[in-house]
Amino acid sequence: MSFNTFGHLFRFTSFGESHGPAIGCVVDGCPPRIPLETVDIQRELDRRRPGQSRFTTQRQEPDAVKILSGVFTDEATGKQVTTGTPIMLQIENVDQRSKDYSEIKDKYRPGHAGYTYDIKYGITDYRGGGRASARETASRVAAGAIARKVVPGLIVRGALVQMGPHKIDRTRWDWNEVGNNPFFCPDAKQAKFFEGYLDGVRKSGSSIGAVIEVVAEGVPAGLGAPVYAKLDAEIASALMGINAVKGVEIGDGFATAEMGGEDNADEMRMGNDGKPLFLSNHAGGILGGISSGQPIIARFAVKPTSSILTPRKTVDRTGNDTEIVTKGRHDPCVGIRAVPIGEAMLACVLADHYLMHRGQVGEGTAWPFKKSGA
Ligand SMILES: Cc1cc2nc3c(=O)[nH]c(=O)nc-3n(C[C@H](O)[C@H](O)[C@H](O)COP(=O)(O)O)c2cc1C
Repeated sequence: MSFNTFGHLFRFTSFGESHGPAIGCVVDGCPPRIPLETVDIQRELDRRRPGQSRFTTQRQEPDAVKILSGVFTDEATGKQVTTGTPIMLQIENVDQRSKDYSEIKDKYRPGHAGYTYDIKYGITDYRGGGRASARETASRVAAGAIARKVVPGLIVRGALVQMGPHKIDRTRWDWNEVGNNPFFCPDAKQAKFFEGYLDGVRKSGSSIGAVIEVVAEGVPAGLGAPVYAKLDAEIASALMGINAVKGVEIGDGFATAEMGGEDNADEMRMGNDGKPLFLSNHAGGILGGISSGQPIIARFAVKPTSSILTPRKTVDRTGNDTEIVTKGRHDPCVGIRAVPIGEAMLACVLADHYLMHRGQVGEGTAWPFKKSGA
C-alpha cells in the first residue's frame, strides 16, 4: 500500500522523481465550471521555481505546466473552465544532472532519505533524492493553484519570518515587500540583512534553517471535521508532510505554554455589523477544530539543507564507514522556496474542507440562533 494521494474530496495524486522525465499530479474532485487557465497554475509554479537568485539552487527548471485533462471551453463565456473530471497536470524535468550524484550513489547522505528508502524498499533512486526530492513539491504547488480557486474569496499568503537565529521585526511587516526580495520576507530591512547572512552561509559550504508563516484570509466559519479531521490537525499534517519540515504551530503555538488564560483566550464582542467580533487571534482562526472566520495562521520550521560541502561521517550500502561531501546544486536555505509550498498545502486543506463542509451541512446554519418560540 502506498500513499501518494492527498485529501478527501479535493484530492490530488502526485507522481514523478527528481531526475525522471516528468513530474505532475492528477487533481480529482475539483468542482465543475471553475475558470482555469494554464497561467493560473504557472504563476504559482514560477514563485517556487529553482534558479531564480543566487540564494536558491542553480538547477534551471522552467517548470512549464501542461493541463492534459479536465478542462473545456464554457460556451457562455468562451473561457476555459474545469469540467469536474480529473485534471492531469504535467511538468517536464529538463535540467537533471545525474552524474553529480554518481560519486555518492552508494553512500547515505546524513539527513536525507536514501537510508530509510533503502531500508523500506530495498532500492533507492539516488539521483537528486528521487521521489524524496523536493521536485515533487512542484506538483503540490500546481494542485494548490487550483485549490485556491475552489473557495470563493480565499486569499492564502506566506512569508519567511526567520532565517537561522534571525527573526524579522513584525512591526515592519508589509505583505507588499514579500515579492520584492528573493526571500519572501515581509520585512525589507531584514531581507537586506539576509542577503549578506546567506551569502556567508553559502560560501562556507553550509546551510541554514528557517521559519515560514502562512496566513489564510476569507476562510468561512465552520470548516473542519471534529474529531479526527479537525482543521488544525489537518493543516499541521499537510505542512509537516512538506520535505524538511520539522515543526508546525497554529496561532500562538508553542508560545501558549508560557501564557495565562487571560492573555490567550480571544475575547468576543458584538461588532457594528451585528456579527460577533474577536478582539484578538491567538487561536490562529480555529476553535475546536473548526474555523472561526478569523484568519488562519500557521508557522512551520524547515531544517537546514542536508546536502552540504562540509565532509560528514556516514556509511555506504555495503556496511563500511566512510565520509561524504555533497557537491551538485542545492538550496543553502530550503525554507525560502518552502513558502509557496506551504501556501499550496494550506489552500488544499481549505478547499478539501470547504467541499466536505458543503457536503455535510450544505449552506450551513443561520446565525444568530433564535430562542425557540421567539
Ligand atoms: C524547496 C525545497 C528544496 C530542497 N532541496 C534540497 C536540496 O537541495 N538538498 C537536500 O539535501 N535537501 C533538500 N530539501 C530537503 C529534502 O527534500 C528532505 O530533507 C529529504 O527528502 C528528507 O526528508 P525530511 O527532511 O522531511 O525527513 C529540500 C526541501 C525543500 C522544501
